[in-house]
Amino acid sequence: MMPATKILGFGGYQPDKVVTNDDLAKIVETSDEWIRSRVGIASRRVAGPDETVGDMAEAAGAKALAASGLTPASIDLVIVATCSPETPIPNVAATVAHRLGIVAPGAYDLNAACAGFCYALAAASDSVRAGSARTALVIGAEKMTAWLDWYDRSTCIIFADGAGAAVVGPAADGEPQGIGPVVWGSAGDQAEKITIPEGTHAIRQDGQAVFRWATTALHPIALEACRRAGVAPADLSAFIPHQANLRIIEAIARRLGIPRERVADDIVTAGNTSSASIPLALSRMAEQGRLQPGKPALLLGFGAGLSYAAQVITVP
Ligand code: UT7
Repeated sequence: MMPATKILGFGGYQPDKVVTNDDLAKIVETSDEWIRSRVGIASRRVAGPDETVGDMAEAAGAKALAASGLTPASIDLVIVATCSPETPIPNVAATVAHRLGIVAPGAYDLNAACAGFCYALAAASDSVRAGSARTALVIGAEKMTAWLDWYDRSTCIIFADGAGAAVVGPAADGEPQGIGPVVWGSAGDQAEKITIPEGTHAIRQDGQAVFRWATTALHPIALEACRRAGVAPADLSAFIPHQANLRIIEAIARRLGIPRERVADDIVTAGNTSSASIPLALSRMAEQGRLQPGKPALLLGFGAGLSYAAQVITVP
């Protein structure tokens, strides 16, 4: 039988620079009131000009490693979920692994946009279960602000930078599965709803269409992830969806019947950090004392592709 896996530790990193809604209102015609009420963001973090996706991935990865209690030498797979690397080659994962002192791991980047962390977590867990790796470091890291048109008010107010990470390893003998079966998929027929048009460096999205999709198509995916993990939504100690828009988060939570206090709302001060948002939100809930170790929590990633993935984890 395949061994069970679990998250052994996690951590997040955010750049120092805070950009408020009022700061953005100096660049584009918008307001703090509009952004708070329509998106739920009060402020976001923006990486420094020389701060790279790899720098942020390294910082988050180091925290997750420290939290796991494992040495870098015991990691043999590193997956970095990112859709905003400075350049496609070299990949982020191999360099970050080297910088963290992880020797000769399997290392690759994965692009499933804002669903990336859940995809990478599933790939890592399955690799450990199948015996292709003993332990894996999974990182979601993004410098979305390098891919923005700062004069497009429908995108520049949303996206932000940061990284979050988790270490995946085998569960102890007799322990239940700590990373439930992933329910993942995509809607490539709607791929044009979020793009970076060729030859540009600027994300464009049909916000209303993505909003409609997110609030109607994803709660069944979340329910199926719960069903496959054998957990009733009412028994979830936390719901940590991708932090895209607080109205989307609250709409999905309502449909699942999950009380608001159990729902991650890191978007308020972190913005939308794409594949980093779920591990960052997990880290924030831990800091706030809102996580219950040993209890189930639901992760739900969704975004460009359109791609989505959900799984129930046991909170470490
Ligand atoms: O993580 C990747 C996945 N992406 C998403 O999940 C994004 C999903 N979509 C959304 O979050 C929302 O659709 C947005 C936040 C992008 C936009 O919010 P909305 O409530 O759907 O606004 P809208 O696009 O329907 O625009 C309503 C009005 C428009 O003005 P008119 O035409 O009614 O006069 C916009 O021009 O709001 C205007 N508007 C703004 N006004 C002030 C658009 N952006 C802004 C802005 N400030 N920043």
